[in-house]
Amino acid sequence: MSSLYEKPPVEKLVEELKQLKAKAYQGGGDERIKFQHSKGKLTARERLALLFDEGTFMEVGTFATTKATEFGLDKQRFYGDGVVTGWGKVDGRVVFAYAQDFTVLGGSLGETHASKIAKVYELALKVGAPVVGINDSGGARIQEGAMALEGYGMVFRSNVMASGVVPQITIMAGPAAGGAVYSPALTDFIIMIKGDAYYMFVTGPEITRVSLGEEVSYQDLGGAVVHSTKSGVVHFMVENEEEAINLTKRLLSYLPSNNMEEPPYMETGDPADRDVQGVEQIMPNDAAKPYNIREIITRIVDNGEFLEVHRHWATNIIVGFARVGGHVVGIVANNPEEFGGSIDVDAADKAARFIRFCDAFNIPLISLTDTPGYVPGTEQEYKGIIRHGAKMLYAFAEATVPKINVILRKAYGGAHIAMDIHSLGADLVYAWPTAEIAVTGPEGAVRILFRKEIQASQNPDEFIKQKIAEYRKLFANPYWAAEKGIIDDVIEPKDTRRVIVRALEMLKNKREFRYPKKHGNIPL
Ligand code: HXC
Repeated sequence: MSSLYEKPPVEKLVEELKQLKAKAYQGGGDERIKFQHSKGKLTARERLALLFDEGTFMEVGTFATTKATEFGLDKQRFYGDGVVTGWGKVDGRVVFAYAQDFTVLGGSLGETHASKIAKVYELALKVGAPVVGINDSGGARIQEGAMALEGYGMVFRSNVMASGVVPQITIMAGPAAGGAVYSPALTDFIIMIKGDAYYMFVTGPEITRVSLGEEVSYQDLGGAVVHSTKSGVVHFMVENEEEAINLTKRLLSYLPSNNMEEPPYMETGDPADRDVQGVEQIMPNDAAKPYNIREIITRIVDNGEFLEVHRHWATNIIVGFARVGGHVVGIVANNPEEFGGSIDVDAADKAARFIRFCDAFNIPLISLTDTPGYVPGTEQEYKGIIRHGAKMLYAFAEATVPKINVILRKAYGGAHIAMDIHSLGADLVYAWPTAEIAVTGPEGAVRILFRKEIQASQNPDEFIKQKIAEYRKLFANPYWAAEKGIIDDVIEPKDTRRVIVRALEMLKNKREFRYPKKHGNIPL
């Protein structure tokens, strides 16, 4: 007689396990997978297979299912509960990921689904590894009622706990409506795919129509183009899913795994002490004329490789990652081709967020300054240029990473300070011979300083011209500032790369301390 405790042979149990796993890997089943593909979308597992080095993905929570029973959910239990979670290696480094599975209950988020995401965050925080989230979901699982909302709370909290500890990247690979948009927004970078199947908004077109009488399409309300050009919600817009994954890998290649590590140094084969060729030809002699700052950036950095963040939004300032002499840096540069390089509310927000990310993850900051000031006028004042502009000041002053500022041309007023100067905390400030450093531009300065004289003058135009010439002679060069000690050196443009590399190497072990506090209070 067999024992009550006797099990079937292990081979049979293994066979059963294989069958159960095969079922789990099928998500919502063949039909739904076909439907997912028909919309041009990959499945959660296909996406993870592209992300991770072959054979490295280790899944957790394969068999987890919903505990809910309402609205027939007890008869609709799917292994995995609509999200595939785990870790693997990306270019040899450990990365955690979750990918929502739209084939299972529309990728909707219930209690178990949320717990699985929270679990990978918990592990990622313990070991100090980045988290990549691939979002493709109908939002809170309606059948699970307020438990689904608790689930979102759990995910949001995980996002916030991880902020500044491990890098977080979200790929928008499907819909995101309502509060579901806030997990991506709480992460460091959002990559969004162009196309009808991908959108994110707090309130959809239907409610917009009913409550405001405003007719708008899904894409015009929340597509990748809108979010990467108008709202600034999206950091990178890509053409397709493969591009989204490749970009994720490229972005990770610049980032340390956590806030205790240095960003990954890499031999790039580009000589650290080479001249920067031809920068003089890019900048026009006429200080009123614009030029392409991206060309200057790509000539300075290793092999011309610059990963621009927010490329299509607030383009009057340019931010992104590069390597110089193999060292990862974050670049913040004014763009004279847009508003002359002046700073407005969006540019200040964009720069401040980028600066804070770099500071959190030990990435040195390089400013390339050419700005005539903050954008004037009622529109900007009403939008709060005071509080937005203050964010940039706050972010630079707060940052303790190595900070190097190279003033290329104009450095006027508050915007000069906002690009980081000595008194704000810059470690080294260099200037090209083309630099102009002053409280305000010549025209404005003369009109303020000589208001009475201009009124009394027989020939005010001539008087103004003469005073502008005097002002420019004094301030439209870097030497007055260098004499005062606020510029460390005036350098030849061709030496910029060499100077930056040597400064970075000297600053490598920089330590700067702050008063202990719970947290600061950045202006919003
Ligand atoms: C449960 C859902 C679901 C959800 C989709 N499904 N969203 N099930 N809860 N939230 C199910 C559908 O019933 C369907 O199941 C399957 O997923 C596929 O959905 P379709 O509608 O057929 O897909 P599609 O036509 O591509 O439309 C996608 C969609 C739509 C636009 C996302 O499904 C939709 O509008 N869903 C509801 C969106 C929503 O209102 N979510 C709540 C937002 S509020 P069957 O079995 O019929 O195929 C929110 C609060 C978060 O998220 C708060 C945090 C603070």
